[in-house]
Amino acid sequence: MRKSPRLLLLEHYRTHARSLPWRAPPGTNALPDPYHVWLSEVMLQQTTVATVTPRFAAFLERWPTVEAMAAVPLEDVLSQWAGLGYYARARNLHACAVEVAARGGFPDSEAELRALPGIGDYTAAAVAAIAFGRDAVVVDTNVERVVARYFAIRRPVKDARPEIRRRAAYFYEDVDSGEMAQALMDLGATICRPATPDCAACPLSASCAALASGEPASIPPKPPKKARPERHGTAFVIEKDSAIFLTRRPTKGVLGGMAALPGTDWQDGPAPAGGAPAIRHVFTHFALTLAVESRDVPPAGTEGWWQPKDRLDEAGLPTLYKKALAAFAEREHTPTLLP
Ligand code: ADE
Repeated sequence: MRKSPRLLLLEHYRTHARSLPWRAPPGTNALPDPYHVWLSEVMLQQTTVATVTPRFAAFLERWPTVEAMAAVPLEDVLSQWAGLGYYARARNLHACAVEVAARGGFPDSEAELRALPGIGDYTAAAVAAIAFGRDAVVVDTNVERVVARYFAIRRPVKDARPEIRRRAAYFYEDVDSGEMAQALMDLGATICRPATPDCAACPLSASCAALASGEPASIPPKPPKKARPERHGTAFVIEKDSAIFLTRRPTKGVLGGMAALPGTDWQDGPAPAGGAPAIRHVFTHFALTLAVESRDVPPAGTEGWWQPKDRLDEAGLPTLYKKALAAFAEREHTPTLLP
């Protein structure tokens, strides 16, 4: 009898699975630590495997258990997260750790996981399936692309989500959901890539409708690019002896709660011509032009602290402010500020 496509995919996964530190080896029935699975899934939501891998190890070294993470203040988790972006994830990570520690461990069902801070449909399904061996239909953007191609669903993903989800269930019938989820994700990341699918290497090629159509890369269609609004503002570099004045962003909003250079509010619109030298930083919903100026004293009423320049890397500055300091240092020839 011919093997079903989903068994072909699982066989392929068992011999080609990426070796990732949060995984149990495929085909062994061993379940990985739920704390590792949860942490990796939250990190991987908007960040690549290559970036996450060393950062995941650093988190585990600092906080080997969810209880250890729950016991520290939020600021520690925010600074450990610095550079990974989408900082709401770090705030939710800490809130979730506190709840999980208080209830004595991770719940093992999708519904209970879904009720925890920062855990949406995707993460609940992924943790239930991968860490607890539960049946779940796990669909992330990689899986959406694989499924849209396999069934030649030609509508933009954002319109086709309910259909993609229904069709994705085919892959999860009668198999280990956690293994299938990771098989689909690996296929999406390494073979069924967005622009350059390697169909010759694909275990699903014999029955893939997108491949049969002759133009697999055109499915799913790309959504039209939206113009990003512009914002602008100024950051202040204030030095005293061998320290620099830092503050915290307000808890709500962009970079909420993160360490920061003090500065003006960010205004809508492009930066006025001829201002101080500036850096550009692109956020999801807007692009920022941030002028970087030297000041003698902190702005009145700004709370903050003097961070020793030789320990700047411990401040947990997000990439925006690291870039600002690097540009300032280069301009002013003060190499001690280089991150
Ligand atoms: N992306 C998100 N979760 C993943 C996982 N468990 N393995 C590989 N890539 C992923």
